[in-house]
Amino acid sequence: MSEATLRKRGALDATDDDVETVDASKLEQPRKHRPRPFFSKTLGSLVVSIILFLWLQTDFLQNLLGSRISTVKEWEVVPGGVVRQVDFSADIPKRDAIVKAFKHAWAAYERDAMGNDEYHPIEKKGSNLTEAGGIGYFIVDSIDTMQIMGLQEEYESARNWVANKQSFERDGNFNTFETTIRVLGGLLSAYHFSDDDPIFLERAQDLADRLLSAFDTPSGLPKPMVNLKMRTGVNDAGYASLVSTAEASTLQLELRYLSFLTDNDEYWHKAEKVMKVIKAARLPSGLAPIYMSADNGQFLISDIRLGSRSDSYYEYLLKQYIQTNRTESVYREMYEDAMQAIHKTLLLKGVKKHMTWTAELLPQHRPANQIDWQLQPKQDHLVCFLGGSLMLGATVTGARVRSVPIPPTASDLSIAGKRDWMTGSQLIETCMDTYDTPTGLAPEIAHFYVPDDGRERVGEQDWYIKGNESPDNPSYDARYILRPETVESLFIAFRLTGDIRYRDYGWKIFQAIEKYCRVETGGYASILDVSNAQSKLEDKMETFLMSETLKYLYLLFSDANVLPLNEYVFNTEAHPFPVFTPSIRTGFS
Ligand SMILES: *[C@@H]1O[C@H](CO)[C@@H](O)[C@H](O)[C@H]1NC(C)=O
Ligand SMILES: *[C@@H]1O[C@H](CO)[C@@H](O)[C@H](O)[C@H]1NC(C)=O
Repeated sequence: MSEATLRKRGALDATDDDVETVDASKLEQPRKHRPRPFFSKTLGSLVVSIILFLWLQTDFLQNLLGSRISTVKEWEVVPGGVVRQVDFSADIPKRDAIVKAFKHAWAAYERDAMGNDEYHPIEKKGSNLTEAGGIGYFIVDSIDTMQIMGLQEEYESARNWVANKQSFERDGNFNTFETTIRVLGGLLSAYHFSDDDPIFLERAQDLADRLLSAFDTPSGLPKPMVNLKMRTGVNDAGYASLVSTAEASTLQLELRYLSFLTDNDEYWHKAEKVMKVIKAARLPSGLAPIYMSADNGQFLISDIRLGSRSDSYYEYLLKQYIQTNRTESVYREMYEDAMQAIHKTLLLKGVKKHMTWTAELLPQHRPANQIDWQLQPKQDHLVCFLGGSLMLGATVTGARVRSVPIPPTASDLSIAGKRDWMTGSQLIETCMDTYDTPTGLAPEIAHFYVPDDGRERVGEQDWYIKGNESPDNPSYDARYILRPETVESLFIAFRLTGDIRYRDYGWKIFQAIEKYCRVETGGYASILDVSNAQSKLEDKMETFLMSETLKYLYLLFSDANVLPLNEYVFNTEAHPFPVFTPSIRTGFS
């Protein structure tokens, strides 16, 4: 049995008086070149298990990050300010501006690309994920936002398409995770907000029945892709049995809700098995590397980070606990364990403004089967979900009372809850700092200065965009692709604090999107270089603009009784599901 299973609820509170933050100056210098990806070509051999054995024996991370301990003693409601007045009524002009933007985006898609999975607003055309034809990726991802915004005409059109044109009989390989969070998640929310229009549940069930084939592996971890027509799971080319941790662990809210709606336990049991496997695979550090083996259910030695391939693993630990109306303490324990690990090993402070940021660790092979962990001082925009998530968690797993006031006071939260609340609000400030660019938009990836990194310190910020020297040739890191994570955190933070600063932040971001991403003839596009006010656009409007970015902005400016956080849980694509008390219990602890 792993350490975590022995740990009793609340044990964190008792033992965790001190919050450790890692002092960047004590860390090993990052090397100049990004090492070769560990999983280049040799994956098949999986020598990994021997090394993994050694890995399990060492307390490598603490050794690596010989840390200075600093204690969070001061309690603040939000850093830098105290909330004076909590006003949760809608800001109607701003809310309506968001609705207008949504209509501008949808109208262009409907005009140029209805029925296609993806939309390119500059060329004014659509494309599909596979050559087998569309599955309603774009449309289904947009429906619940229409319902929430009350857009009747748009809704009728989308619903008609689902009822008359949508088909999953597609002979192509679709990503298990993306299809689940966007299409299955979208259908389930649409079903809820339509007052149980049976067409949405019928489609959801058809899709889920096809997706279940992914789970047919020795460990029960799902394959990354599914051929929807053939109903078979498909491996990534060249990477047999490799699954990404986040992709395996971000299907549970959807499948559990479907089980609840249909009274069919099968969906839930498949998804639940994954959580059991992940729990059993726990490493001594409590951190989750980004890859697992679908053969043996173990973690593979691979990057440790909070961004891509890992982010929503942490998000769904908390949200599974919330979705089940706090009846399944196993998720609470897993979540608390993970947040503890993050605080121990991945949080750092910037060298100039001392902002809180999160690092990545890359495994390095050394002779004699050793592994060194190399600090990678970069934070994906994706990590910006974590600020809001930590604050939400603080009011749930970190609360001393079932229903915390808004904003919470120090005595409402446990020690871990206070820690998470503080870190969460600090991370939101850091994410907002990455929007402090000539366009007012944040880069896809921010690198942070660390002591002795030999870099020239440009500007006042703790971070920079790596390799972005020439305006003609912006680096990949410099783009903003309409991502939602920061406004998601702003929405949650506003609902939990009532602090108007979060609405102000959200409005600034929205205005920057309007100024730099809006395509006059319809739709919104990604921007290639956030540090250049003359930047070119990339001809793509991601579906998460419809499902997440504009929904969270709309909710930020709505009255707080629209989708209250204690009654709804948002899937990782921002599709809200109601909280329920399950009759099916999780079969492990
Ligand atoms: C995408 O799929 C839809 C639905 O099958 C089809 O109507 C459309 O023509 C396809 N688009 C392209 C660009 O092939
Ligand atoms: C959640 O649990 C609480 C406390 O047991 C109960 O009062 C409430 O009705 C439950 N909510 C739902 C949606 O089941």
